[in-house]
Amino acid sequence: MNERLIVVSNRLPMGDTPSGGLVVSLHDVLAASGGCWIGSHPEAGDDHGAFERIGEEPYQRLAFRLTQSEMENYYLGYANSVLWPLCHRRPDLVKIRPAYREAYEAVNRRIAAMIAHEVSPEDIIWVQDYHFIPLARELRKLRVTNRIGFFLHIPFPVLADLSIMPQAETFAECLAHYNLIGLQTREDVARCLEMFRDDPRAEFMTDGSIKFGEHVSLVHSFPIGIDAKAFEDEARRELPDVFGGASPAPFAIGVDRLDYSKGLPNRFRAFGTYLADLRPEHTRPCLIQIAPPTRLGVQAYEDITEELQGLTGKINGQFAELDWTPIRFINRSVERARLAHLFRMARCGLVTSLADGMNLVAKEYIAAQDPADPGVLVLSQFAGAAEDMTEALLVNPYDIEAMAHRIDEAFRMPLGERQRRYRHCLEVVRKTDATSWAHNFLNVLRSSLKALDLAF
Ligand code: G6P
Repeated sequence: MNERLIVVSNRLPMGDTPSGGLVVSLHDVLAASGGCWIGSHPEAGDDHGAFERIGEEPYQRLAFRLTQSEMENYYLGYANSVLWPLCHRRPDLVKIRPAYREAYEAVNRRIAAMIAHEVSPEDIIWVQDYHFIPLARELRKLRVTNRIGFFLHIPFPVLADLSIMPQAETFAECLAHYNLIGLQTREDVARCLEMFRDDPRAEFMTDGSIKFGEHVSLVHSFPIGIDAKAFEDEARRELPDVFGGASPAPFAIGVDRLDYSKGLPNRFRAFGTYLADLRPEHTRPCLIQIAPPTRLGVQAYEDITEELQGLTGKINGQFAELDWTPIRFINRSVERARLAHLFRMARCGLVTSLADGMNLVAKEYIAAQDPADPGVLVLSQFAGAAEDMTEALLVNPYDIEAMAHRIDEAFRMPLGERQRRYRHCLEVVRKTDATSWAHNFLNVLRSSLKALDLAF
């Protein structure tokens, strides 16, 4: 029997046109390997321990259902009120409740049992993200001997924060059940190795792998990317005037899920400071911020939404004219083709996350630019993308004045420098594209552990 790739992620791609980094990256690989994607059904319910097959080819999609209580305790609870804030260095937002941990463990146990039914001996399993850290441990308990890889899309937590987690000692142990632990950046790898170094149960082998009890794991960085070519093409397509004849000039753009990790309040404040102190007289620059709501039901997300509404009102109240609204805060999603077009028109792309695994908007902004007249990416030094995109205008997102100066610099930058920076960033975007990300990970998962006689 041929090897099949089984991808597991909390969200299952719906519809035929893939969008979003993870989905785009894996879509082609799965389509080519005739593999299968396992993820949650968009509607809550009880799956009674069996997958539902949904959608058509080119690959199989198997859905599990989360009950209302699992949505609250596993998804909004443990995943997004413990692991997410912890990995994004916001221990102050962590909410510890026994019910969260229990639901997280229970969902992982149930999905593992369902996968164990589905899997054939030749399959390789690739688990995505923080929703499923214990999945390999649960699969091993069920004597699943297949090769299992894990990729963490968000930052690896700093050691000092890890002890806040309930049953913190199981974190390293759960990860060690994976044959390969993939992380976004070299810094993430350093933090992960620091965790293992701090754990007396872990032993560093001469080939760089980590032995943990009877398990052997490799830790490696695989910076995720976008389908650069497709996005470049998308941005070149002509669209009817999206501004209805009233195009703001110049404008900066931000596109983020409305998440506290994205640093939006400081971005708005920086734009306000730019308007107050640096904007050339009589110019009317705009910030267009598209921020679809996300994870509503978690208090921190409701708070940040209100904070941004307040800041928008305050800054607009201070600077707006009858025919000028400096901040256009759009609390909805905008379709992909329009986004690409907006990126191309924007003189400045703002990615100012306080912490971010990679940030694919940074890559999309670059891919969308017109090589003859490219815009400038202002990029947080704390986004994973900054590790390689060193010719973006890097900025400390906690430093509001510095950000205001970066916005000013972006608006004023001469064509030659814009082109030079753009070309460097584009090279990174192309080199780390979505398909090579998936291939690189799978190649390491398939090959590098062959020599080791894996027990589990
Ligand atoms: C991040 C995570 C993904 C997640 C996405 C959207 O990128 O790494 O796993 O799917 O955010 O969040 P949501 O909670 O809406 O799935």
